[in-house]
Amino acid sequence: MHEEKVKRLASMKKSAEGGGGNEKIEAQHSKGKLTARERIALLVDEGSFVEIDKYVTHRSDDPSIPKFYGDGVVTGFGTVNGRQVFVFSYDFTVLGGSLGEMTGKKIVKTMDQAMKVGCPIIGIVDSGGARIQEGVSSLDGYGDIFFRNTMASGVIPQITASIGPCAGGAVYSPAMTDFVLMVENVGQMFVTGPDVVKEVLSQEVSFDELGGARAHGSKSGVAQFVAKNEYDCFDKIKKLLSFIPQNNAEEPPAVEPTDDPNRIDPNLISLLPENPYQQYDMKDIIKSVVDNGDFFEVHELFAENVLVGFARMNGKTIGLIANQPMLLAGALDINSANKAARFIRFCDAFNIPIVTLVDTPGYLPGTDQEHNGIIRHGSKMLFAYCEATVPKITCIIGKAYGGAYIAMGSKNLRADVNYAWPSAEIAVLGPEAAVTITHRKTLKDAPDAAVLKKKLAKEYRDKFANPYLAAEKGIIDLVIDPMETRPMIIRALEALANKKEARPWKKHGNINL
Ligand code: HXC
Repeated sequence: MHEEKVKRLASMKKSAEGGGGNEKIEAQHSKGKLTARERIALLVDEGSFVEIDKYVTHRSDDPSIPKFYGDGVVTGFGTVNGRQVFVFSYDFTVLGGSLGEMTGKKIVKTMDQAMKVGCPIIGIVDSGGARIQEGVSSLDGYGDIFFRNTMASGVIPQITASIGPCAGGAVYSPAMTDFVLMVENVGQMFVTGPDVVKEVLSQEVSFDELGGARAHGSKSGVAQFVAKNEYDCFDKIKKLLSFIPQNNAEEPPAVEPTDDPNRIDPNLISLLPENPYQQYDMKDIIKSVVDNGDFFEVHELFAENVLVGFARMNGKTIGLIANQPMLLAGALDINSANKAARFIRFCDAFNIPIVTLVDTPGYLPGTDQEHNGIIRHGSKMLFAYCEATVPKITCIIGKAYGGAYIAMGSKNLRADVNYAWPSAEIAVLGPEAAVTITHRKTLKDAPDAAVLKKKLAKEYRDKFANPYLAAEKGIIDLVIDPMETRPMIIRALEALANKKEARPWKKHGNINL
């Protein structure tokens, strides 16, 4: 008798794990995609996954909707490198991974449990969106998910892997998570698909051009990571998790350091060109400073004039923000301000100290930037730095002009330790721009204006474009020998490890969105 019952369970288990059936699984594989369960197996530690709600089915009274165990999403919990996570993975083999009432309830249950436990939630999306046949019940499910995304924001890390279609309003749950990874040629995210675009705007566009991984990784900034394939995607999630804490009440995980905290680099200054107009790669400086040269870049393809990402210093996670003189000379623009502000807020929410490396000529000028809202977007960076109470260490390497000087983790935004290299140039404007304004009349009347401008610019540079005026005022705490950048940042991080800083009570601030 009992045996029969156990047999029945085994048969149900087999059926549930078969998803939408062999044909659909083959179709999934033939599109170069893994199944929901294969994906979870790649993510979690072997044998650690426990599937919950495996036998849930839809409860629509529409007889045309076939019933499958699981109802289009696999949910549960497991560990990644020994740390607890909750996971939901849409099963495209079941009704195109569309979200019906019960699919939504399963996801919501998983999110609620992750919140109660205080651990990351990872959503793997491969879905046709709201289940058309279930109508408003599907919309109801999405609405409940959006609410959970918002409640979980800043409490537990939320990560989305987009490995298939993700359409309509369904894109907003991923957008509300902290990190979106998209797999090239497979992940698709759009509010309205190519057919609608054609109908409304008479524009021909492919799925990939419209909402593929490259489009969102480099143009819209929706995706923080672009993965080459699914394996790469899950490797990236694991690496990301290794830097971040389980929740906002915990410290990020530390590793046993294998790089000398006192390591100096006498070659560091030579990475900075003598000519301030020559490009150089800030990543070379970052790699010299952080543990083992390991910089895990976030938003690598988006707004490349600012670099953000995770690294470790003496084994402990830091969030790194730096100007990248390789692009737009490291000027700040709309996208880079958004990118930096969001990253700063993530770090602050999850107790990750912020290290800022500065070399920027200012905010990017022009009608394009002004009319698209550089004032509004640029202010987010100021807001984010000011709000952040985690340890903040800034090192000015080269140019730090005007508003961008203030925005890049200045003392005024409550950075704790501000270093500068002797090569730092801290001023209101760059020399050429400054003398054009201060000597406008003289230059206009001069017979050889170009030579005079050069001379005046040199005088300005000698007088203002150095770190010592700031150091005299205590706006810079210390001018350091570039070769000591790593040990000096590590010492500051260690000094600030127990930093506590209060902010006035408020319901929430009103960041200029
Ligand atoms: C019900 C769906 C479905 C959906 C796909 N299917 N999407 N069933 N509701 N939303 C089913 C298909 O009927 C098919 O069933 C199976 O899933 C696989 O779909 P295919 O079309 O064969 O696959 P493919 O060619 O790979 O195309 C995938 C797709 C396409 C691009 C996702 O299916 C598609 O455009 N679907 C509709 C997308 C959409 O408009 N969704 C609503 C968005 S609005 P069979 O039985 O034939 O295998 C939305 C509102 C959310 O989501 C609002 C939140 C606030």
